Amino acid sequence: MTALKSVRGTRDLLPPETSLWNRIEATARAVFARYNFGEIRTPIFEDTSLFARGVGEETDIVSKEMYTWEDRARAQSEKSQSLTLRPENTAGVVRAYIEHKLGETGQLQKLYYIGPQFRRERPQKGRYRQFWQIGAEVIGPPSAGSESPLRDAEILEMLATFLDALGIAGSTLDLNSVGSAADRARYNDVLRAALVPLAPKMCADCRRRAVTNPLRVLDCKVPEDQPIIETLPKIGDSLGDDSRAHFVQVTAALDAAGVPYRLHPRLVRGLDYYTRTTFEFTHGGLGAQNALLGGGRYDGLSEAIGGPKAPGIGFAMGLDRLVLTLQAQEAERKTAPKADGYIAPLGENLNAPALALARELRRAGLTIELGDGSFRLKKSFEAAEKTALRIVILGEDELSSGMLTVKDFASGIQTKVPRSDLTRMLAEPSRS
Ligand code: HAM
Repeated sequence: MTALKSVRGTRDLLPPETSLWNRIEATARAVFARYNFGEIRTPIFEDTSLFARGVGEETDIVSKEMYTWEDRARAQSEKSQSLTLRPENTAGVVRAYIEHKLGETGQLQKLYYIGPQFRRERPQKGRYRQFWQIGAEVIGPPSAGSESPLRDAEILEMLATFLDALGIAGSTLDLNSVGSAADRARYNDVLRAALVPLAPKMCADCRRRAVTNPLRVLDCKVPEDQPIIETLPKIGDSLGDDSRAHFVQVTAALDAAGVPYRLHPRLVRGLDYYTRTTFEFTHGGLGAQNALLGGGRYDGLSEAIGGPKAPGIGFAMGLDRLVLTLQAQEAERKTAPKADGYIAPLGENLNAPALALARELRRAGLTIELGDGSFRLKKSFEAAEKTALRIVILGEDELSSGMLTVKDFASGIQTKVPRSDLTRMLAEPSRS
């Protein structure tokens, strides 16, 4: 019988890689806490219409990439319902904001999330059908200051701080404004007119979108269409005075805080809910899927899904892509994380004292691998060298004398260490 495999575009995450995932998640939680964000967890599936209305029917995500099914009624009193695995989390967060009447607190809601998302895209490096996002949203009634350009700048400054804390070097922040809903409607009219003579030369998606939602023509990836897209009017030329003034204040605050960015007039992002500020951080080391994260303002999203006026701004980072970037950096430095020590009991009658020693060291905060007394010494050394910085040998002599033999793999030095000194010694950086 052929063995079953994980589904295309999905994968298992195994140690030691998962320790990197945990480190990234812990760094995000620690940084977001300093900005006073709290965690939200929304369901993994939602009513399909949430995404259709929130993200937009004509987007690639909704029109091509969602995992949608008809959830059958199980009783006569129930109706069947179209459900979708969430392709992103912003619509779910805003739905929860509305459902729990969070706007009635009168305060800004600062919420972050970490979790899997699902899109039926063509899998390639950095692009999966189940992928993970770490995201955050700031949303609230206008009276709470949710429209302030300072919120945009603060989010971008927080992202720069997070990437620094993680040690990701060499990313670029691309920034644009797609204007208010009225500016976008004006731009859509300009685009629609510009596309009348051009659309017949473009792909089928573009021909349709040129009529239904011209902005989405800018998401087209078909190489032959790109020279035509280059000639289209830019959204910046359709911005009204308020949107321009808002954007100037965002960039001024970033300049004052010393957060570098690059203006990118074609950055409209592939989701319909964006208004005013849009941004992406890209990284050259990622290849074709080079967006580490993306986000922007969505001042009309709450109303689009039946809620009160609640402007917001947020972002989502591709956790898979953060991992890939850090792995590439760490491969360069060749520093796979290792345990502080490996305890090798010499004989099965030393297993129990070895467990007691491991417990003592772990309680002191050290990361310890515990071998097995059935291993020959050579096998213990081989296993230890792969997983730990040092090996601690525990034989009858060591147990009775209280002097343990420790070998540091980086320096090759073997020493006798009193048991009372072992914790301190294993906590020292390994001598290379
Ligand atoms: P997005 O640009 O669609 O925005 O996704 C954000 C990030 O998720 C991307 O920059 C990328 O790193 C990662 N990502 C997207 N698709 C995949 C995939 N198939 N495989 C691996 N990683 C992927 C959003 O989702 C918005 N909800 C962001 C947002 C929050 N805007 C405002 N608030």
